Amino acid sequence: VSAAILDGKAVASRRLERLAADAASFTGRAGRPPGLAVVLVGEDPASHVYVRNKGRAAEAAGFRSEIVRLPEDASRERVLGEIERLAGDRGIDGMLVQLPLPAGLDPVEVQRAVPPDKDVDGFHPVNAGKLLLGDDDGLAPCTPRGVMALLEEAGTDLSGAEAVIVGRSNIVGKPVSLMLLRRHATVTLCHSRTRDLAAVTRRAEILVAAVGVPGLLRRQHVKPGAVVIDVGISRITEQARAEELLAGQPRRLERFLRKGHTLVGDVHFGEAMEVAAAVTPVPGGIGPLTVAMLLDNTLLAAERALARGR
Ligand SMILES: NC(=O)c1ccc[n+]([C@@H]2O[C@H](COP(=O)([O-])OP(=O)(O)OC[C@H]3O[C@@H](n4cnc5c(N)ncnc54)[C@H](OP(=O)(O)O)[C@@H]3O)[C@@H](O)[C@H]2O)c1
Repeated sequence: VSAAILDGKAVASRRLERLAADAASFTGRAGRPPGLAVVLVGEDPASHVYVRNKGRAAEAAGFRSEIVRLPEDASRERVLGEIERLAGDRGIDGMLVQLPLPAGLDPVEVQRAVPPDKDVDGFHPVNAGKLLLGDDDGLAPCTPRGVMALLEEAGTDLSGAEAVIVGRSNIVGKPVSLMLLRRHATVTLCHSRTRDLAAVTRRAEILVAAVGVPGLLRRQHVKPGAVVIDVGISRITEQARAEELLAGQPRRLERFLRKGHTLVGDVHFGEAMEVAAAVTPVPGGIGPLTVAMLLDNTLLAAERALARGR
């Protein structure tokens, strides 16, 4: 009666093992490790955790990791100056600027300052354009690549399948829809103006949620036998909410009652497990794969730089 759990953590750790071997091979050939730089501006606590995790994962896989921490009040010139320095550093193959940026810095301007061939987040308009055109020599965004990797691991047949994505952001929903389209799925993209969301999502053989509204998708949104990928991550602290959204997961509810907070996705996990064929957990689903894909993009950029003779 219960769906399979798509264990993103296990898939990510297998990928990271393979990446470490590939990075070692690169280091042997290039005489230097692949290098990843992260620019972090300000004090956002979640960003600090994300950046630390990226740095640790990079080092564990044998990459060089550089974290540039700038103060909350760093000027536009200072931030752009650091990006320019990293752009010119031959030991750095991939770089990203962690979002959100403090007010006063324009994230669009800052992200466009990253050269496309080092843009391992895949957010630069050149890389977004290449994804749209189906041109494989760009760098594609990490979370959408993680979604595709998990679908591949699950052995999901994408060609001709009904795929519904909820959320149309530039960093998740839109790129996921392009990647699924490329693999010949029939793609529907939903958002906050979608009329009768459940009627649309119930058609989905592959349902991807990237909204940021805890437990938005319930039993009635899921087609029996669907593969459900939950990208959303929200922190909840309210007990009534936790009791509702963690129904069917007694161990997690117990932990919530001890700690007073927990992370949940956009999908009601317990309800989806009753109808779907496979569901990603949150946490432990797409999150870990995002970091693996960041390193994968960095190694890809490094191999391209080496092939160009740098
Ligand atoms: N696992 C990871 O590594 C990872 C990476 C990135 C993001 N995330 C998580 O994924 C979630 C989405 O992130 P994002 O950056 O894509 O978010 P976003 O930029 O806020 O976009 C949210 C999207 O959801 C749509 N939406 C909002 N309420 C809706 C509703 N009631 N019904 C249908 N659609 C609705 C919005 O529609 P409109 O366009 O009409 O406003 C928008 O397109 C967040 O929880 C985020 O934390 C996780």
